[in-house]
Amino acid sequence: MIPIQDELSLRVGKVMEALGLEGDPLIRVAQDEQFGDYQSNCAMGLAKKLGRKPRDVAASIVDKLQIDDLCEPPQIAGPGFINFRIKPGHLAERLKTIRPAPVPGRDRLGIDPADHPEVVVVDLSSPNLAKEMHVGHLRSTVIGDCVCRILEFFGHTVYRENHVGDWGTQFGMLVAHLRHVRPEVVNEPDKLEIQDLESFYVEAKERFDRDEEFRKESRQTVVALQSGDETTMRIWKAFCDESLRHCHKIYDRLGVRLLDRGESCYNDLMNEVIRRLEQGADADGNPLARESEGALCVFMDGFKTREGEWLPLIVRKSDGGFNYATSDLATLIHRIEELEATRIIYVVGLPQKQHFEMIFAATRKAGWAGDHIRLEHLGFGSVLDAAGRPFKTREGGTVKLKDLLDEAVARAREVVTQEDEHSKRDQSLSPKQIDEIAETVGLASIKYYDLSHNLNSDYRFDFKQMLDMEGNTAPYMLYAYARVKAIGRKAGVVFEELPADAPVVIEHPSELRLALTLARFPEALAVAARELRPNVLTDYLLELSKAFSRFYDRKLGVRVIDASPDEVRLSRLKLCDLTARTLKLGLGLLGIETLEQM
Ligand code: ARG
Repeated sequence: MIPIQDELSLRVGKVMEALGLEGDPLIRVAQDEQFGDYQSNCAMGLAKKLGRKPRDVAASIVDKLQIDDLCEPPQIAGPGFINFRIKPGHLAERLKTIRPAPVPGRDRLGIDPADHPEVVVVDLSSPNLAKEMHVGHLRSTVIGDCVCRILEFFGHTVYRENHVGDWGTQFGMLVAHLRHVRPEVVNEPDKLEIQDLESFYVEAKERFDRDEEFRKESRQTVVALQSGDETTMRIWKAFCDESLRHCHKIYDRLGVRLLDRGESCYNDLMNEVIRRLEQGADADGNPLARESEGALCVFMDGFKTREGEWLPLIVRKSDGGFNYATSDLATLIHRIEELEATRIIYVVGLPQKQHFEMIFAATRKAGWAGDHIRLEHLGFGSVLDAAGRPFKTREGGTVKLKDLLDEAVARAREVVTQEDEHSKRDQSLSPKQIDEIAETVGLASIKYYDLSHNLNSDYRFDFKQMLDMEGNTAPYMLYAYARVKAIGRKAGVVFEELPADAPVVIEHPSELRLALTLARFPEALAVAARELRPNVLTDYLLELSKAFSRFYDRKLGVRVIDASPDEVRLSRLKLCDLTARTLKLGLGLLGIETLEQM
């Protein structure tokens, strides 16, 4: 069944067509539930075009609208809004068509996959292997994973590309240092273990800065790497593998699946990039690239400095070396031509916005990406400390992601084992269960908090807020889920075994609100998927938990476990089941596992 919003759009669209009016029906979720559930804002714009009064235009639309199977008679309000209130019977019909959950993890809640599945590359996480992962990589990993999950849910083929930084001059220094301090690595590369990559880097850098001999050696090592010298490559690979093992400990903990394909994988394609740029011409027959101050550059329309100078995209430095841009152009060729992706999404911080704009423009200019290929930079803001400053340790160093996850888990344990009058904890839990719960809640809190922010804004990393039991947080959501599941246990029913044709009876206002919110899930998910905005999903889930709280509230809501007659009880239990399933699916798409007990 198509989402309610789309259905309304279709119906209003048809009438507009019949009236000879062109445009978007502009169906939106109503701002204020007092006036309705949805509204159409189209009359104002149309009136302007036609030179008529908006309310008259709205009236002629409403007059022709056949919609009483779906809503109460539409109302015209204010300057010309058309307000719609969905009929309880229609909501009941919608919810009734949702079949019981099939195999766990396969629940779609009646939502269809995309009509035209695509091959999508998502470039996510992508830390620099020279160092330990830090808080900056959190956002790319968590947002990227969520985007992948949503796209996968709609049936797209998704390449989760971990474009790690494993190439460049700093690897010359690291390999040279490694060879000095761990000479055994040459013969036993697989046994290499580096406890702390960060201090290893610092040691190497220190030596580099103080020791002229070592600097020379590092430079020679870069040359050796570039010419593919076997021993040097073996040490380099041992280092990268060890660094990747560090990363994957974190990915495993976070439940994020990735395909490691670092910058070095595109080395052979770099010359091809240059060859194509030097030999090719743009649509007007002009050369794609030209030399400027010894460097090979691509100049593109729309990229000028404030002073009006052309902004160069340097693809070969004056010393003949390649750079980040060359590597990203090569990567794009691989993704378009080898992986046959028609959509490529880069989940990378906003500071790289211009880099991607230029890379995309160059790719288009060179004709490597046809119009049917979408190139997107999904940028995001920075993580700040509680005071709004760049996130640093007390000593001013970068905070390791691993330490941050550990702390979140430790603090989550405090929250879930807290014994006060508000304690919501299930008292029957074993110490082992508490460990698992703390791990799940701690990591979920970090993820949820990150995803609940607008992608473009910076946010303050604040453990207290992300672990708040009452806010728009993972603990609140997880608790809401566990509570619904507990209702099933108390009522002595297994939700999965509720009859497929269980009745849905909607009478009480709190019941109506819950039903409407449940029916709106496909819509919220569609928006989150279309706009690649995880916080649309967190906002929705918060709204759902609130609607459920009201529904289950002793005073504001209805009886559930002891409701009668049987038909009503069954219906309310079905609403509980649908709430639990929607929370589970929604949280799952955010990369958050639910807990049956908490
Ligand atoms: N390694 C880069 C960094 O840490 C991010 C790479 C993003 N992906 C890309 N294809 N450029 O800033």
